[in-house]
Amino acid sequence: LKTIAVLTSGGDSPGMNAAIRAVVRNAAYNNLDCFGIYRGYQGLIENDFEKLGPRSVRNIINRGGTFLKSARSKDFRTKEGRQMAFDNLKARNIDALVVIGGDGSFTGADIFSQEFDIPVIGIPGTIDNDINGTDYTLGYDTALNTVVDAIDKIRDTASSHDRLFLVEVMGRDAGDIALNSGIGAGAEEILIPEEDLGIDRLLDSLHKSRKSGKTSSIVVVAEGDQIGKNITKLASDIEKDLPEYEIKVTVLGHIQRGGSPSCYDRVLASRLGVGAVDALLEGESNIMVGIQNKKIVYVPFETAINIKKTLDFDLMRVADIVST
Ligand code: F6P
Repeated sequence: LKTIAVLTSGGDSPGMNAAIRAVVRNAAYNNLDCFGIYRGYQGLIENDFEKLGPRSVRNIINRGGTFLKSARSKDFRTKEGRQMAFDNLKARNIDALVVIGGDGSFTGADIFSQEFDIPVIGIPGTIDNDINGTDYTLGYDTALNTVVDAIDKIRDTASSHDRLFLVEVMGRDAGDIALNSGIGAGAEEILIPEEDLGIDRLLDSLHKSRKSGKTSSIVVVAEGDQIGKNITKLASDIEKDLPEYEIKVTVLGHIQRGGSPSCYDRVLASRLGVGAVDALLEGESNIMVGIQNKKIVYVPFETAINIKKTLDFDLMRVADIVST
């Protein structure tokens, strides 16, 4: 192993820069050359490379986003696209690739690695925390802190006006952000895609909390939740049943993807970035470097992609109890 390359792919997440930095520096530490590839797989196909040394990645550990930029590439889904990508790697004598991204990026990595027999190592980077085989993904902790901070602010105005707020959070098909930020921000109700409890139970619970003396309420809604998918309709359904409440909807959106990474995400990024180059030096391929019980682990792409991560349902019980 002499030369490696690193790219970021899919939705960006805070901590990606810190992970690139760790990859580049562990490569330098082991006397490997390292290229950065701009715009994910699209830049790989379009030959958008730059040689990176330890000083190329200074002053980025604290920055959100990814300085290598990211993209969701349609061309990489085609055999011709992947062939061009491989040719570009070979032209620079690049022996292996590190991909920082989510499950879609790993699916592409898995196909590419097998098709061309080139070692590829994944680093889980997504705010959704929806990748099987790792307790945490890069950016998740920062996103949670962003959401909790936003809901704290919403709480101030919700309680001043006795309003009910529906706060929509990201997570695609996963409820991790909703469930954990909901508990952390003291939400009355949390709606997640993993558990469809239906509108009746939600209304029932809101009635109960109103009767128990609550004058304002916060409901955290995961974007992928069955009844929360149409949040405007949900708001009007609640308003019809609970006319005593004025309902407001706040969609947090991409604010959750930005910002300076938390210390936890910076340390995680540093460990996973170092781990990815270590894995390549150990001859590994087709695996994601993850973290389980505070230890770095290697997880086959197949396990990371094809098995759905289980949600900690005990947290639902905790959420129910603490919102009484
Ligand atoms: O996967 C990360 C994520 O932020 C999801 O939570 C969300 O559903 C999606 O990406 C949004 O994608 P885009 O930035 O392409 O709109």
